[in-house]
Amino acid sequence: MAYTLEHCLRSRQDFPALTANPGLAFLDGPGGSQVPRTVVDAIANVYASCNVNTHGNFAPSREVDRRMANARSVVAAFLGAESGSCISFGQSMTTLSFNLSAAIGRTLQKGDEVLITQLDHEGNRGPWLGLQERGVVVREVRLLESGELDAADMAAKITPRTKLFAIGASANSLGTVNDLALARRLTREVGALLVIDAVHYAPHFPIDVEALGADFLLCSGYKFYGPHVGILYSRPGALDRLPTDRLSVQDPAAPYRIETGTLNHAAIDGVRAAVEYIASWGSGATLRERIVDAMTHIAAYEHELASFYYDAVRRIRGVCVWGPDFAPGRARAPTVSFSHGKATAAEIATAVGKQGICVWDGDFYAARPIEVLGLAKSGGLLRTGISMYNTRDELTRLLAGIERLS
Ligand SMILES: Cc1ncc(COP(=O)(O)O)c(C=O)c1O
Repeated sequence: MAYTLEHCLRSRQDFPALTANPGLAFLDGPGGSQVPRTVVDAIANVYASCNVNTHGNFAPSREVDRRMANARSVVAAFLGAESGSCISFGQSMTTLSFNLSAAIGRTLQKGDEVLITQLDHEGNRGPWLGLQERGVVVREVRLLESGELDAADMAAKITPRTKLFAIGASANSLGTVNDLALARRLTREVGALLVIDAVHYAPHFPIDVEALGADFLLCSGYKFYGPHVGILYSRPGALDRLPTDRLSVQDPAAPYRIETGTLNHAAIDGVRAAVEYIASWGSGATLRERIVDAMTHIAAYEHELASFYYDAVRRIRGVCVWGPDFAPGRARAPTVSFSHGKATAAEIATAVGKQGICVWDGDFYAARPIEVLGLAKSGGLLRTGISMYNTRDELTRLLAGIERLS
């Protein structure tokens, strides 16, 4: 089943924030998406029916245990993982990324190399840059003016000294989709771990961690219609011996080995509901099939809208769009960012914000690409992100607002 405007308009009825604020255009998905009623209900239901801790010998606690195990299985289906024991939860992607880097850092020797990129969000850079304090050498893959990573530079910087490569699947600043197959091939040749930041990718593309060959992959529920929960996929066996920061009383087995303290059970059940909501737009015999089917069709809808906006906005006087184009066949997230010759991104966001259009300005914590592209001093970019509930009308309103400023 294709996902069309008719489906989109129907989906909008499922999102309380959209029905409550019909005048608002939420084009800020890369910063965080709205949540459907089923997610709100799932969260509320935990508080209403089983707001107790896990592993107790009484019924509500067993119910929380069941929901947490189910949430892990559902997220495993979302990521194409073998089972729920590959899925750890945490406060945010950034927190899990720090936990992972601290653990892996302890296994590295002085002079070992870790590779990051100039295109990534700080969440996939800062935790690895911190390993320099331990004598680890951190190198960066160069970002080209086109908004893509320099493949030759990547190949040159992955050497037998490289122990780990942390790369984004897609850039939250420019919408670039990176060549993960190349990253996997090169890291495999030297036996380096591959850590993938899929925070910006997960809302827009089906993910298959096994096909990607990821050792670790991180994403965040609040970008794909769920609440704020960080998610870490670990390849079976990858977490087992890592010296993670954990209490002596913590279960040392995966996936618990990297989790700290009591989790946010209500939010995690909300993530489960978000994945099931996405799946409800797909068909197939299994949950995984429904997820992949739904994501494939929603992605095509989002891509078409983003491509329409990309073509229109770049024709507006003063606008300079950054990042790869929407050439047929190119994998591209539905995120379009531009700078403007006469107005800063903050001025444009403020002006269109007054008309009820929510778009982000600045660097979106992707400070490095903004700096490398020479956009930091002028206030960064104005970013528009398309989610499953956005329409062409909303983009037309945004385009009119930008045109008025030009
Ligand atoms: C590409 C990317 N990576 C990492 C993060 C950090 O995620 P979290 O807010 O869950 O720490 C974000 C958040 O915007 C992001 O867009």
